Amino acid sequence: MTADELQPFLTGLAQRVMREDDWGTQADYIPDLAGIDPVQFAISVVLPDGQVLSAGASEQPFSIQSISKIFTLSIALGRIGDSIWARVGREPSGDAFNSIVLLENEQGHPRNPFINAGAIVTTDALLAGRAPREALSEILQFIRMAAGDESIHINRHVARSEKATGHRNMALAHYLRSFDNLTHEPDLTLGTYFHQCSIEMSTRQLALAGRYLAALPCSPRMISDAKVRRLNALMLTCGQYDGSGEFAFRVGLPSKSGVGGGLLIVAPGKASIAIWSPGLNEHGNSQAGTRAAAHLSDFTGWSVFRP
Ligand code: DON
Repeated sequence: MTADELQPFLTGLAQRVMREDDWGTQADYIPDLAGIDPVQFAISVVLPDGQVLSAGASEQPFSIQSISKIFTLSIALGRIGDSIWARVGREPSGDAFNSIVLLENEQGHPRNPFINAGAIVTTDALLAGRAPREALSEILQFIRMAAGDESIHINRHVARSEKATGHRNMALAHYLRSFDNLTHEPDLTLGTYFHQCSIEMSTRQLALAGRYLAALPCSPRMISDAKVRRLNALMLTCGQYDGSGEFAFRVGLPSKSGVGGGLLIVAPGKASIAIWSPGLNEHGNSQAGTRAAAHLSDFTGWSVFRP
């Protein structure tokens, strides 16, 4: 797929999405995100030669939310390797991202690192030997290096807003602690988790940050190839929570969603793709973004199920 073929398609895709009226609803359980207009769209695609193609509001920063879980898991895999799997599983949960039910049945061992319970455990692992400020700076540095962009920052107002209403996450953290699967005080781990979720990026920055996951020749080397393959497997099976099967069916590419409306999508060896549209579907994944991803894979033929 050449840039000359893809750019007109992306421009047309953004126009087509803006004409549609099925936007979903923005996340309203985080007060700072509740006022965002769902009628917004952006897409960026990085190709193997490093070219970035975009359409829509691709320079507009948005809250990456759960997409941060990819980066914290990457850091944890790099730092402690397979020992993270003693604390968190690798199976789809078939439940909502903030569900607590499985935790009781499974004795405080979260199903996977992308549901909130699993991501809280991963962040807890990153706090070993580090103060929250140091762990956050490590997360930010990882993302800035992956994207090659020092301007990426945390929106502390969004973090405070989520902390003020984050009772579900507090319940999850305390519950994990009761099973000895949280080594720090829940407040400390959650403070770090809320701040990592409040990192803001544009689709352009996010697509650049995802190059290492797509193993593009232009990628900075962030973690080993073997770890990248495993991350992609987890993204395909668990990256969109209870919507992961539907996304694999419609798009066929590993991805991670966030309630800010972002999607990071990996076409191994072919492209790193970021899409943003803040209206969400019933699983908390971008509604228009998912449609756009399906159009993109139909047009390009990119799918892990097709050679
Ligand atoms: O913990 C939360 O609820 C949010 N900070 C992140 C959730 C999220 O993005 C789920 N993804 N679709």
